Amino acid sequence: MLEKIKEIRAAMERELQEAASSEQLRELKVKYLGKKGSISEISKSMGKLQPEERPKAGQLVNDLRQALEQNLARRQQELADRALQAQLAKETVDVTLPGRPVKQGSRHPLTLVMDELKEIFLGMGYTIAEGPQVELDYYNFERMNLPADHPARDMQDSFYIDAKRLLRTHTSPVQARAMDKLCPQAPVKVISPGAVYRRDDDATHSPMFHQVEGLVVDEGISLADLKGTLLNFVRQMFGEEREIRLRPSFFPFTEPSVEVDISCMLCGGAGCRTCKDTGWIEILGAGMVHPNVLRMSGYDPERYTGFAFGVGVERIAMLKYGIDDMRVIFENDVRFLQQF
Ligand code: DAH
Repeated sequence: MLEKIKEIRAAMERELQEAASSEQLRELKVKYLGKKGSISEISKSMGKLQPEERPKAGQLVNDLRQALEQNLARRQQELADRALQAQLAKETVDVTLPGRPVKQGSRHPLTLVMDELKEIFLGMGYTIAEGPQVELDYYNFERMNLPADHPARDMQDSFYIDAKRLLRTHTSPVQARAMDKLCPQAPVKVISPGAVYRRDDDATHSPMFHQVEGLVVDEGISLADLKGTLLNFVRQMFGEEREIRLRPSFFPFTEPSVEVDISCMLCGGAGCRTCKDTGWIEILGAGMVHPNVLRMSGYDPERYTGFAFGVGVERIAMLKYGIDDMRVIFENDVRFLQQF
């Protein structure tokens, strides 16, 4: 038996040394340690030994098994090291080559303008009010003084979800939501930035775009407050030299309503292509909050007055950065985006 163990050990060591791949090592493991392997066979035959010989033989078999396990692991490591060395000898790495630059992203022009708009109005003491993009017809139209049969609803071709809900066509419904929340407290002084949706799609209209709504309600608010606020905004956004001009207009939720123009920043008012030779560029709609709109939120229009305005964010971005097609804002072409 002792002879047999010695024999196995010698054979095993030789074979291990000769093994040239981990595949062969695995085969050796089965051959010696497997269920029908030599070591298992020898363990089984121990029953035939004299009882006093068994402990010694058992010890030897255990040593053998241990030696085999250790040698297998060592050979495995040797083979792996050799493979690595061989690969390193083949591959050369030039550590002096310059690294590949990691492309850095930049903020989207709309985000830049949106942040700037918020910054300007927060600086004037406004807080931010938000409303849902899937809006009730009730807030989007009725509360904005546009009853069901009002012809001005046609100005905004809408995406309806069902009979009562639609994708909001403007941020104006947030006016009503903000007033509902705050009434009877005053003043209300909020902006609400966000996405709006209309069935439009051309170089200057996108089915999804962004607005910032503004609303101030208090005692004694006048059109002069609106004009001063907008002038302040425009000068921060487009430069200290800008002037504004208010033209009469119509919105159902304001009375009087105005369209606001800024003096052209390209030609300074002399007339050019961008301002269509007028010296002025239209940038937003505004007005004094209609008494009906105030009343529907619970404010007494005899005591409280307010002004509101709605700015198109894409339009501001296009003017500020000289973008002439709105669609590029949403195409996400990096050649366009990385310019900001
Ligand atoms: N909601 C209008 C639109 O989407 C913009 C607007 C005009 C908002 C006048 C106002 C306003 O708050 O007073 O065309």
